[in-house]
Amino acid sequence: MIKLTYYGHACFLLDDGTTKVLLDPFFSENPMTEVSWETIDCQYILVTHGHADHLGDAALIAKKTGATIITTPEVGRLCPEAEVHGMNLGGSHIFPFAKVRMTLALHSAGVAGGQACGFVLHYDDINIYFAGDTALFGDMQLIGRKERIDYAILPIGDNYTMGIEDAALAAQWLNARNVIPMHYNTWPVIAQDVESYKDLTEKMSRAQVHIVSPGGELELK
Ligand code: NI
Ligand code: MN
Repeated sequence: MIKLTYYGHACFLLDDGTTKVLLDPFFSENPMTEVSWETIDCQYILVTHGHADHLGDAALIAKKTGATIITTPEVGRLCPEAEVHGMNLGGSHIFPFAKVRMTLALHSAGVAGGQACGFVLHYDDINIYFAGDTALFGDMQLIGRKERIDYAILPIGDNYTMGIEDAALAAQWLNARNVIPMHYNTWPVIAQDVESYKDLTEKMSRAQVHIVSPGGELELK
């Protein structure tokens, strides 16, 4: 069992009882959370790209906790004082908590020469796809064909990423067992009716959609 905590926007903490893994650690400027980055404890921080709403407080948290940042080399260079494990698209690495594969994301990098990414985390019995900011892309079908996606964490906010219809199609293409929507309602420009996303996705795919409120938790199993 993995405990997922949502801090709003694209910021999550995964805790398997041994290791705490932070995803896209956006605290300070995040209107969806009152939690301060200074209270966060973790051993690893995964960063999908260099935009401020994803890189967030990564460097500060890494410095305070000693956590390792897992990201592309270009984003890693934005955190010169941190321990960085650089990866690139299609590469996997076995970390103590999970095997992590860096996947394509169709989005700008937020740093010169970079590339936005997503991650598939292979825990012992649960695979989690954290898409990052992305458009719908056809190779999501390959991700779903290659691995069993137990949980897909997908952006639905539109404007900067997939909106509701494309994110429902993504759930279908990934053949995801469960979907957790993210990257919506943070600002008016990405306001979404998440209930209609749930309805549409559950009609179009086999996925069960779990709406987690900012500050909420979900047990992944
Ligand atoms: Ni972005
Ligand atoms: Mn974003």
